[in-house]
Amino acid sequence: MIRTTHMEVFNLRDFEDVAREKLDPVYYDYFASGAQDEVTLAANEAAFRRLALVPRILRGHGPPRLAGSVLGCESSMPVLLAPTAFHRLAWPSEGEAATARAAREAGVIMIAAMLSTITIEEIAAAGGTLWFQLYIQPDLGFTESLVRRAEAAGCRALVVTVDSPALGRNERGDRNDFHDLPPGIFCANMRGSGRSDGRNDGHVRQVSLSPEISWRHVEWLRGVTRLPILLKGVLHPADAAQAVSCGVDGLIVSNHGGRQLDTTPATIDRLPVIADAVGGQVPLLLDGGVRRGTDVVKALALGASAVALGRPVLWGLAGGGADGVAQVLSLLRRELENALTLCGADSPGALTKDQVVG
Ligand code: FNR
Repeated sequence: MIRTTHMEVFNLRDFEDVAREKLDPVYYDYFASGAQDEVTLAANEAAFRRLALVPRILRGHGPPRLAGSVLGCESSMPVLLAPTAFHRLAWPSEGEAATARAAREAGVIMIAAMLSTITIEEIAAAGGTLWFQLYIQPDLGFTESLVRRAEAAGCRALVVTVDSPALGRNERGDRNDFHDLPPGIFCANMRGSGRSDGRNDGHVRQVSLSPEISWRHVEWLRGVTRLPILLKGVLHPADAAQAVSCGVDGLIVSNHGGRQLDTTPATIDRLPVIADAVGGQVPLLLDGGVRRGTDVVKALALGASAVALGRPVLWGLAGGGADGVAQVLSLLRRELENALTLCGADSPGALTKDQVVG
């Protein structure tokens, strides 16, 4: 159990205090912040609190089973690691390798970010089941080379982030003048992108977040890989339906943890309409504000196959490297098991949407 001079950790939120104590305040702000007024950042967690859970009783089935699979990938619980950039800012010696080791040991899927600070090949060497997150770059030749590297590294799915035709306005970052990664830390996958040598260039300049990316690019990607493709950042039911007709294999209901367009709704509030639009044709995942086992249960009951965790993983990493991430996952697993038991569900699939009331 991680302890610091004055803190013991009992839940995921406690890890944020540990991380705040350990991190350079500029990096803490980078991880913690949302766009502009951080309305969406706050809304994600507030919406989970607002929803209530209705337990079913006397089902007598014993301890719940958490393990299952998503898009053919086994997972010891319906929780994935969301893609987050720059893990060496949290754990300089190993970065994403520490995160990947913890995910492997916990038997959960890690979505490796394109903007990682070690290469996808190095993450794969440390990791278990990996999916690769991609921002489609206008240079399709470079984008395809990233896809080929992810395939060769053994990644089992591609997660295309589609909520970023531009970078959200992050005022904490502006106030801190945080626009460059420190010497020795760089976007390791981005060498050869033509935009930088992948070295210590401004971190924003290393990636093209382009307003030109469209459905045409998703169709192009569908044609160049046989890996399952998920779109991450879907909030509108019409987009969800279009994604399914484009041959996309899964969707992640996400507002980027409140870091892109501020004042978007909380993800858990959008899940029911997206689930209706998709009608079970492809698996739905959700991220944003998941901090408790009860949050996971609410998302599962409302139609998600699994959830993904962003910041809590970073707080664990900053607090204790792979051990810190392992503790975050183990705390959440215990809470999820407890919440399912108290809800009278013997597995995630046994939850029903009438068990969540607004
Ligand atoms: C992110 N997120 C993200 N998403 C993505 O598709 N590519 C990326 O490079 C990043 N980078 C990133 C950095 C940091 C510091 C954060 C906090 C988030 C978004 C992430 O995948 C996820 O959508 C949110 O973090 C989920 O919300 P919570 O769990 O942080 O509330």
